[in-house]
Amino acid sequence: MRLLSVRLIVSLILGITLVSLAFSYYQVVGEKRALRSDLERRADVLGESLAGNVEKAWEAGSNQALPRLVQRFGNREHLIGVGVYDRQAEIVAMTPELGKKLTASPQALTQAIQEDHDESSFVKLGNTPVLILALPLHHQDELVGGLAIVHDASYIHAQMLRVWRETFLRVLAQVVLIVFITLLIVRWSISGPIARAAQWMRALRMGRISSCQEMPNLDMFRPLAREVATMAESLSQARSAAENEARLREAGESMWTADRLSAHIRTRLDGSRPFVVSNREPYIHQRNGKSLNVVVPPSGLVTALEPVLNACDGTWIAHGSGDADMEAVDAQDCLRVPPDDPRYTLRRLWLSKEEEEGYYYGFANEGLWPLCHIAHTRPIFRASDWRHYQEVNRKFTDAVLEEIEDTLGPVILVQDYHFALLPRLIKEKRPDARVAIFWHIPWPNPEAFGICPWQRQLVDGLLGADLIGFHVQSHCNNFLQTVDRVVESRVDWEHFSVLRQDHRTIVRPFPISVDLTDDEPAEGDNHGFTYLERASLMRSLGTEATFLGIGVDRVDYTKGILERFLAVERFLEKYPTYQGKFTFVQIGAPSRTHIKRYHDLLAEVEAEADRINWRFQSGKWKPIVFMKRQHSHNEIAPYYRAADLCLVTSLHDGMNLVAKEFLAARRDERGVLILSQFTGAARELRDALLVNPYDIDQSAEAIRVALEMEPEDKQARVQRMRRTIKEHNIYRWAGNLITELCEVRLDAMEDEHEKLRASASIA
Ligand code: F6P
Repeated sequence: MRLLSVRLIVSLILGITLVSLAFSYYQVVGEKRALRSDLERRADVLGESLAGNVEKAWEAGSNQALPRLVQRFGNREHLIGVGVYDRQAEIVAMTPELGKKLTASPQALTQAIQEDHDESSFVKLGNTPVLILALPLHHQDELVGGLAIVHDASYIHAQMLRVWRETFLRVLAQVVLIVFITLLIVRWSISGPIARAAQWMRALRMGRISSCQEMPNLDMFRPLAREVATMAESLSQARSAAENEARLREAGESMWTADRLSAHIRTRLDGSRPFVVSNREPYIHQRNGKSLNVVVPPSGLVTALEPVLNACDGTWIAHGSGDADMEAVDAQDCLRVPPDDPRYTLRRLWLSKEEEEGYYYGFANEGLWPLCHIAHTRPIFRASDWRHYQEVNRKFTDAVLEEIEDTLGPVILVQDYHFALLPRLIKEKRPDARVAIFWHIPWPNPEAFGICPWQRQLVDGLLGADLIGFHVQSHCNNFLQTVDRVVESRVDWEHFSVLRQDHRTIVRPFPISVDLTDDEPAEGDNHGFTYLERASLMRSLGTEATFLGIGVDRVDYTKGILERFLAVERFLEKYPTYQGKFTFVQIGAPSRTHIKRYHDLLAEVEAEADRINWRFQSGKWKPIVFMKRQHSHNEIAPYYRAADLCLVTSLHDGMNLVAKEFLAARRDERGVLILSQFTGAARELRDALLVNPYDIDQSAEAIRVALEMEPEDKQARVQRMRRTIKEHNIYRWAGNLITELCEVRLDAMEDEHEKLRASASIA
């Protein structure tokens, strides 16, 4: 920094001096020219009137009059003297002062007499610079002699010296002032922020702070600071991943991390990247006036897959559902995401309103969703919706085929019930592709599934895949039983696979999870939320309470939100001492509201919260706070961390990641999870208080037990469940899925490779 300052000062001094000197030079030259022409003008005026007078005296033949005349004109400002000469340039009359200085007739005068016109020139008389103006004298139009007027021009020189002196002083003052101000600016706006950033980065490097801690104020370096923050975040993640790896290696454990998954995929896929297909995209662009907002949708699928794609790159193909999605993509409909730290490609696919209506709202969410979730909402099957579903599956197939065109043996991970037909459609065109489909929702028993008029086509489409994944074993069993009943095939119960038309499909459970790898409680985490922090959170919600319960869901009839509210009501009824002390906060993201059942449910949930609040609320306390809007992960985190309990009361759920997210957020090892026995998560999280959400009394009792549980008991339960999630995190899910998929033997693959290689060499 010191070197920078010295260089800056020297450059400033040189720069300012050169510029000032150049300007001053032009100023001085100009001034000199102005002074000279002023003197010349004065000499001319004097010359004109004097010449007239001299000529008159000459005419009168009065030789005595001439010395008097020149004497009279001789005392003007800066005038040294005047001389009158005859035709031979001999002196006729001259002022005495000039006579002392002028030893011979000046050159200008001889020239003026010879050429008969005015002459003027700046010359030196001894050491004195002078202006000599010489004029020819006439008598009756005949040249009779000449007149010399000599002015002292030394004052012009003095004036120039004065200007240069002033210039020097001005340049000096400017240099000092500008250097001083520049140094101050550098110090405040550059050195200061850089020093702060360096200090901050040093602290990060030494691990004294986490990168999440707020950046120092870096003024105009803010855009740079954001980049640095992201880089620091990546570095810190890399460091903690490396530390984690080392710790695990030391402990002989085999935990999955982002880095391990990334290395695993590189090896397994021989350097190529996976392709993921889902209906829901991970980032939605929305226009808000002049600004473009990026929203992460409330989706378990997105929560789970985002860390996987971040770890291994690849292409995620999804429906572009945002009103500004088209503005954000390139000519191939692609963009790199996450927007702040791009790591993989999102390829957006566009659907018409009719397609979205029929395929997404209609067949997928009014048909398959209630069909697979036994939650007593009747599925609706419309032939027109089914047509759209088939069309959109074909449309996505085309997009996938386009993306995998240049990849030999691509690995494709299809997601969810929106794309049951996709595996077969892809494999028909690219038998060399390894295709897995993961079904994120439950698969019901064959009787329940049997009401779908197109069950055969759905099952057949799925069996095009090499691997089908469900969250839990019972969903695999239900699926295989359905296959057995619906299509011509051989189900191998020993190896959990299906052989249909010479193609084998493996069916396996892969319990999906969240990104939990670092189980070490962070410094300061042990105390969790303080009483004051929690009180201020409550105040921000407009309530005051000692105990806090939390629920986070899309507002969906499968989530048992109404049953949950009834349980809170029953609890307050049964245990009135908790009235005024326990508040339940429900974060509810409106979802699929275009469907009447969802639209009505939102109103029902609101009305139920109002009814219970009206019944119990008093003073500053209310029992239920319903926050009806989508919240980001960062907004939800404080509620997870502040809550005494989390209520997950789904009537039926494939897995439910809220349960796992809540535990992942509890690094303080506190809080109690009350979990529906009808979720996939209940198979893994045995230390939760398991409830049947239809049994309102049981859920109410679970709330009391949770609030009164001994801290040691709570801690032991959270510790065990966090360990389970950590061991079975999202990286293991993806790692296992890809390992299993890569181990599938593809008979067609070698032939296909040959064909592709041949066509590549012809091209
Ligand atoms: O499991 C079904 C699922 O895809 C979840 O991953 C997710 O929570 C939910 O549906 C999202 O629904 P949608 O994409 O229709 O908003």
